[in-house]
Amino acid sequence: GRNASNSATACAHANIALIKYWGKADEGLVIPTTSSLSLTLDGLSTQTTVEFLDGDETLAGGDGARADGDEVRADAAGSDGSATKSDATPDTISDTVPDTLTIDGVLQHGTSLARVSRFLDLIRERAGIAAPARVTSRNTVPFGAGLASSASAFAALAAAASRAAGLELSGRELSRLARRGSGSACRSIYGGLVKWNAGHDDATSYAQPVECPMDLAIIVILISAKEKPMSSREAMRLTMRTSPLYPAWVRASADDMTRALAAVAASNLDALGEVVEANALGMHASMMAARPAVIYWLPQTITALSAVRDLRKHGYSAWSTMDAGANVKVLTAAADAEQVASELRDRLPGQTIEIHHIGSGVRVVE
Ligand code: PMV
Repeated sequence: GRNASNSATACAHANIALIKYWGKADEGLVIPTTSSLSLTLDGLSTQTTVEFLDGDETLAGGDGARADGDEVRADAAGSDGSATKSDATPDTISDTVPDTLTIDGVLQHGTSLARVSRFLDLIRERAGIAAPARVTSRNTVPFGAGLASSASAFAALAAAASRAAGLELSGRELSRLARRGSGSACRSIYGGLVKWNAGHDDATSYAQPVECPMDLAIIVILISAKEKPMSSREAMRLTMRTSPLYPAWVRASADDMTRALAAVAASNLDALGEVVEANALGMHASMMAARPAVIYWLPQTITALSAVRDLRKHGYSAWSTMDAGANVKVLTAAADAEQVASELRDRLPGQTIEIHHIGSGVRVVE
């Protein structure tokens, strides 16, 4: 029966988009307005264990899971972070089953738990089970800082939860499922260079690997590990609804994708980098033109972008990209990464600068 196999653990890595996803054509199904292209990185990973609990095994975290706060709250209950059994009547999160979620040893309540529960509902529905789940997750990614933590998180959760529920999903099915948790997560199902085909419905919106003859690296300039001021979900909504620059960015994006894929096929890093940087800056320009403006940049962001431009003047092929946060990521050749990172450290003293190479797709571990 399911008893022996109602638990599974999966590990996934973050991905950084070279051609960005910004905006949903369908919010409920997470169908994007544009196709996107990304690199899955090594490091920056999430390992998640999902256990579906049997009938009478109810869960209550600490003094009970509460649903009164809108914000993600951290309780100190359970020093090892594991959910503890309680004799008290377990509270439920609105109308969902009482799952528990522990991230990096901290029991979660409110929106992050509700989001995971809604996602697990998709899997429960598909597997025909009703059991609550115990979800335990460990990250090497700072949470919510625009370092793609949601991508590794929902890719790992999709793989672990579907396996724990007894579902045997193909890569494409897993990608479609992860997409429902967080759009960018559909790309972390695969390693290396990955394209998310926007599609037009649930069946046609999925990621797939793209052959990449270049050995690329991403250098992360960590400007802020703080939680971002506005979620990407909310910021996308605002940009789409109010920014006069957004339709222009969407139109440019199709051509950016064509040029990026051609540059990859030709192993032309300068051509790839140029379109990558332009696509990200265009996305941020469209956010800044929203009303009210969405500005993720900090003063050190400008300094970092200038340093990358200065490196190019000195002959390096290094190109910037940014996501929903103040951090700058630098695309370069793997063979040049050490030297580019060292030049960046000279120009940006005191900043945390880390090299990431290409990583693998999600995998279920024992
Ligand atoms: O996956 P989400 O909903 O957090 O959106 C991520 C959006 C960007 O990181 C800004 C761009 C991208 O394509 O990853």
